[in-house]
Amino acid sequence: MRSIRVQFFSIIIAVLLILLVLLNTYPLTASRDLVFQEKESGMLSQATVIASSLSGLDSISRAGIVEVLRLMDVSGYGRIAVADDKGQLMYDNGSGELPEELSRALEGKSVFRSVFDESAFVSACAMPFSVQNGSLGAVYLYERDEERAALIMTVQGRIRVASLIIAGLAIVVVLGFSELLLRRIRELVRSMRIVAGGDYAHRLGVRGRDEISELGEEFNLLTERLDETERQRRRFVSDASHELKTPLASIRLLADSVVQNENVDMATVREFVTDIGHEAQRLQRTTEELLDLSRLDDGVQVLPEPVDLKQVTLDALVLLRPLAVEKQVKLQLELDDGCVIMANTDDMFHVIFNLTENAVKYNVPDGYVRLQLSADEENVTLSVSDSGIGIPEADRLNIFSRFYRVDKARSRASGGSGLGLSIVHDAVIAHGGSISVGSNKPQGSVFIVKFPRPGDGETGI
Ligand SMILES: Nc1ncnc2c1ncn2[C@@H]1O[C@H](COP(=O)(O)OP(=O)(O)O)[C@@H](O)[C@H]1O
Ligand SMILES: [Mg+2]
Repeated sequence: MRSIRVQFFSIIIAVLLILLVLLNTYPLTASRDLVFQEKESGMLSQATVIASSLSGLDSISRAGIVEVLRLMDVSGYGRIAVADDKGQLMYDNGSGELPEELSRALEGKSVFRSVFDESAFVSACAMPFSVQNGSLGAVYLYERDEERAALIMTVQGRIRVASLIIAGLAIVVVLGFSELLLRRIRELVRSMRIVAGGDYAHRLGVRGRDEISELGEEFNLLTERLDETERQRRRFVSDASHELKTPLASIRLLADSVVQNENVDMATVREFVTDIGHEAQRLQRTTEELLDLSRLDDGVQVLPEPVDLKQVTLDALVLLRPLAVEKQVKLQLELDDGCVIMANTDDMFHVIFNLTENAVKYNVPDGYVRLQLSADEENVTLSVSDSGIGIPEADRLNIFSRFYRVDKARSRASGGSGLGLSIVHDAVIAHGGSISVGSNKPQGSVFIVKFPRPGDGETGI
């Protein structure tokens, strides 16, 4: 793995290097070129002035030259020389050797040359001229400027020092910054490993308001959801095992007493076996309900089809009428036509069956259950109200949770697993609907389920 820091650092170092090289070369060459230009124009114009003064002489003679130079300010030059057309030095305040520039100027054109050797600008210039008697000569100027060179070198030195300091500071700042950044990323990675290891209660401490903090917050939200899901799963597994354990224990007990009791009469055996049958039925219902729930959880949806809720209600009532008769509960129906939604018929059957079964089961003798079905522009509404025992306010929030029962003994006695309303809830939500529970006047409960009405043409009816 290539660390971000290495990548980051390489880029910064590359940029810094380019900057340093530029800073340490460009100002030097630019100011050197400027000095070259200045020297060239200065020396050439000076040479021109001298050459034109010399061309006023009758002939090239040392005395004449001395005379001309005396009238001029040439003190700034290290060497001045004048040669005649044969290359003879007629005047020279230097080494006495014929400079190369001078012999080239004798060929007829002016010459300039300047070099910079870090300690000085060394410049030389030569220019041809002709005197009154027609003979040709050339004048040579030489200068060594240490002052300018020193100035440029000092400025250059300062730039170098300053740029080194800036580069050092930049590296320190970048290192510090990347260290801070990396520390936070490492913290995030560490937290991810902890959570991946199974500690869902772990939370990352989030500081600041930048992208990394955002990442941290998202991570915490994710972990929280994971935590909640895991808690739910554990509770569900333990509740489910408990629900299955109780009837199984009864079955074993009943079977054991039949087997171990040698002189048990036929009537008792029949009674016990009937009880075993009931328990087995309860187990069967619970497992079926668990399977329904898991199907709803998976979100595996059968293709929705047009479902006429009135027809489904009538179908459910065929199965529930005997229970209503047994409980002495009257069924009142107010079912409008045209309550059609796009849904899964089996799911809708579960919804209506469970709500109605509860309303009958948790009722009182001579009570009633009222089923109302109506539709308006936006919704199809199913209302199941009863005159039963009602649900205490405090329990209403939990009533849709898995295995929740208000009165455990009573519910179990009537064969309930506490899963019915969770299935109702999940099925309603899966079909885009909503469900609410309230109390009925003067006593009992009301469950109201709303489904959005499909748009025109969607139901195909
Ligand atoms: N119409 C109702 N009147 C009173 N109590 C109800 C009604 N419907 C549901 N309950 C309460 O809600 C609990 C959960 O219902 P449900 O999930 O269908 O489980 P159960 O298998 O016990 O019927 C029931 O045990 C019961 O205590
Ligand atoms: Mg029920």
